[in-house]
Amino acid sequence: MDRRRGSIAKLITKTGDIGMNMSRSVFWGLVVTATLVVGVSQADDGNSDAARARIGLSIAPVSLDLRHKNPLLVGLGSYIINAQGSCNDCHTHPNFAPGGDPYLNQPEVINSATYLSGGRQFGPFTAPNLTPDANGLPGGMTFAAFKNAMRTGKDPDGSGRTLQVMPWYVVGKMSDYDLRAIYEYLKAIPSLPDNPAPGPSP
Ligand code: HEC
Repeated sequence: MDRRRGSIAKLITKTGDIGMNMSRSVFWGLVVTATLVVGVSQADDGNSDAARARIGLSIAPVSLDLRHKNPLLVGLGSYIINAQGSCNDCHTHPNFAPGGDPYLNQPEVINSATYLSGGRQFGPFTAPNLTPDANGLPGGMTFAAFKNAMRTGKDPDGSGRTLQVMPWYVVGKMSDYDLRAIYEYLKAIPSLPDNPAPGPSP
């Protein structure tokens, strides 16, 4: 198992180093290979990071930009966000595409048009946009700022205000590694403007 982990780690390091000058098709071929290796080598072990990453990559409701990123971390971040953290519940508004609401017994389709771009209102509080800004920073946050907001519940704007509604006192107990995985995933999702039509829960 350790040896297999080692080879995945090496492969991921290699993938992460791919330069911008590589042709798109060669690049995406490598990404697919990385995904398959992450998936196939430990697919029978549901309790490993690689197995979680494989599920994460398969359930991400948007296309992911894996350039210069570690696919294992991105996949794990997707698993935590989309299968555990319920971040989408509040940070995507509305949650589902028209006709895709599982609560109405429709086949689930997550609303990729505004995925994690915020807009769900809770009284005076609005869930913010977590997608990458023009510099590729999720919600405009460095990893240090993101980690601090998750751990302490302090608004990353530096005002010292405590975030309300956001269950930071729960999700902030994750390991540094898991928070890094979430952050890597947020870097890989499509950049979107702040949700132009905020509103309360339907
Ligand atoms: C119950 C709803 C809810 C859930 C679930 C939730 N959030 Fe939030 N989140 C909010 C709201 C609302 C705010 C803004 C609160 C405020 O302004 O006081 C917020 C703020 C944040 C912030 C601070 C960013 C900023 O610019 O203010 C981060 C980072 C964040 N959420 C990440 C996450 C992640 C990652 C998850 C999943 C692991 C998650 N949230 C789950 C509702 C939620």
